[in-house]
Amino acid sequence: MSGNMNLTLKVWRQKNVKESGRFETYTAKNISPDMSFLEMLDEVNEDLIKGGKDPIAFDHDCREGICGMCSMYINGRAHGPVKGVTACQLHMRSFVDGDTITIEPWRAAAFPVLRDLVVDRTSFERIQQAGGYVSVNTGSAPDANAIPVPKDNADEAFNSAACIGCGACVAACVNSSAMLFLSAKVSQYALLPQGRVEAKRRVANMLKAHDDAGFGACTNTEACEAECPKGISVTNIGRLNREFAAASISGE
Ligand code: SF4
Ligand code: FES
Repeated sequence: MSGNMNLTLKVWRQKNVKESGRFETYTAKNISPDMSFLEMLDEVNEDLIKGGKDPIAFDHDCREGICGMCSMYINGRAHGPVKGVTACQLHMRSFVDGDTITIEPWRAAAFPVLRDLVVDRTSFERIQQAGGYVSVNTGSAPDANAIPVPKDNADEAFNSAACIGCGACVAACVNSSAMLFLSAKVSQYALLPQGRVEAKRRVANMLKAHDDAGFGACTNTEACEAECPKGISVTNIGRLNREFAAASISGE
């Protein structure tokens, strides 16, 4: 079909966590600009399978920008060149015929490469398990407005809860810090009455899990916010710091 593109892909191939990887070059032929980036990879993989070769391993689930699985660096940007979209929502119309596209996994010590573009992000699960929940009995659904929550707090908590745990913030940070992720997970509870009961324990335990996993300290470059597909703000990191300071002063 006219308007379709032929592209050169330089893709990171790595058999497992122990072996070192390398870039391999492939061609993606007759790619529609309306395809998503992952559909383009599906096409390339079909050709590889037909040729008796190993398909490129990459993570995906929802393909709707919800699950956070489609972690990959595209031309040196987390999730590619378009701000505010995940790799699964990136359309091939963002590229032009004849382009060379470089595709790499997230690079961070706390995200070991399992195979090709697939990294192990269970370190995020460990942070979440350290306190990213409400365990106290909050009773049955309250009557509307029975627990007053300022509208600004409700909006901010909702914005923080939009974090999909994709890890782009870590990949974009020169220090591989997960502070944006961690601060979003702390903030979504810190702003609501149900989250206040365990707030001090939560921030201390989640921060410890973050450091134990091997993530670095915040660099204050704000690269995390720039590359976050869900627009999570670094103001959450300020809230995280205030929450931690309050927990430290009270000795909990
Ligand atoms: S803060 Fe943004 S970049 Fe980081 S994990 Fe959450 S959604 Fe992804
Ligand atoms: S595959 Fe779920 S966010 Fe991309």
